Amino acid sequence: MPTIYTRILAIDPLQPEPEPVAAAAAVIRAGHLVAFPTETVYGLGANALDAVAIDRIFAAKQRPFSDPLIIHLASAETLDRVAVDIPAAAWSLAERFWPGPLTLILKRAPLIPANVSAGLATVAVRVPAHPVAHALLERSRVPIAAPSANLFSRPSPTLAKHVLEDLDGRIDLILDGGATTIGLESTVLDLTRDPPELLRLGGVSFESLHRLLPNVREPRAPRIIGRETPASAPGGLLKHYAPRMPVAILRGPVSVAAPAMHRTVNLLRGHGLCPGLLVPDEEVPLYADLRTHLLALGPGSDVEQIATALFARLRDIEQSGADVLLIRDVLPKSGLGAAISDRLFRAAEGHVLDTALETQLEEFFAWLLPQNCVAPMARQAQRR
Ligand code: TXA
Ligand code: MG
Repeated sequence: MPTIYTRILAIDPLQPEPEPVAAAAAVIRAGHLVAFPTETVYGLGANALDAVAIDRIFAAKQRPFSDPLIIHLASAETLDRVAVDIPAAAWSLAERFWPGPLTLILKRAPLIPANVSAGLATVAVRVPAHPVAHALLERSRVPIAAPSANLFSRPSPTLAKHVLEDLDGRIDLILDGGATTIGLESTVLDLTRDPPELLRLGGVSFESLHRLLPNVREPRAPRIIGRETPASAPGGLLKHYAPRMPVAILRGPVSVAAPAMHRTVNLLRGHGLCPGLLVPDEEVPLYADLRTHLLALGPGSDVEQIATALFARLRDIEQSGADVLLIRDVLPKSGLGAAISDRLFRAAEGHVLDTALETQLEEFFAWLLPQNCVAPMARQAQRR
């Protein structure tokens, strides 16, 4: 792909100045790409009515054409331009959760080019709450298709510098409005299925949707790469949000997890690897003696703060020199905690060690280590 010059314009996240908004809207209307902050993560936007501009998104992100995009609107008033046969539930959900981090899957209107939706008959739509996203949509006067502004399968960007890391020379403009507030992507709810089904946990919790939509189905387990059926249920891929290194999750009570973590770190070191650790603030002192790359996730009891920092931490660990990452997951399995756990699970490609089940240690080590020479060591570690 030929390199283009990526401009960066600073913008006030609360009261966006008209000049950068106008510059970005001009880029969108010309069929090119703008990264902009939303309340969830940075999006990579193009005119959703322009099939050529949409193809540029897939090329810039190196995203497979089988993975459909979300269309962003300035308000729910124009929903019937992008979707047809809109069920009553969509309007009540819009009333309750828009603008905000909820994406609805509806039937696609003929006006929307097929490549936006990877050829599916459906379309994903949301109305973002961020003032910059809203100003850009108002000024562009077109719906904007925008996936997260990262290279495919990388952690989503929560700062303009993350966008630059992944997409410098590949997109035209970045509006730098500082850190996004939620830090995790929107919740995706499929209203074309009966009962309605959650496809991705995110900024709106299952519990709060359930109050309005009592028959809503929880998300299915993520699919393993290589075994997925293309396009039938997009977006459920297991490997996602991943830093450029193997990741493993340690769950379970700290009394068991802390010794397991020590053993794992020492074992990895014995194989010449340099582990990094990502743990809740209160567990940091437990691992200080390991003198390894140790990053704090935020207070274990504050899921909002953990969500805000998570993707930035996953990128920080890449700069640290660690070549394998161990993460302690102590999150509640409801609300935003469930959404964060889902991202961790995908970053780890499903490699979770529940420290209550020591029998898993062997398999866990075998996956972590470069060769298959670890079985005897893992048994040793288990006996200790
Ligand atoms: O918070 C967000 O949703 C951010 C900001 C920029 O709005 N966007 C975002 O987009 O995360 P992306 O492309 O990274 O994730 C969109 C998800 C994917 O999992 C995709 O497969 C799913 O939505 N999706 C989009 N259209 C769909 C459709 N028609 N049917 C089923 N899933 C769809
Ligand atoms: Mg994404």
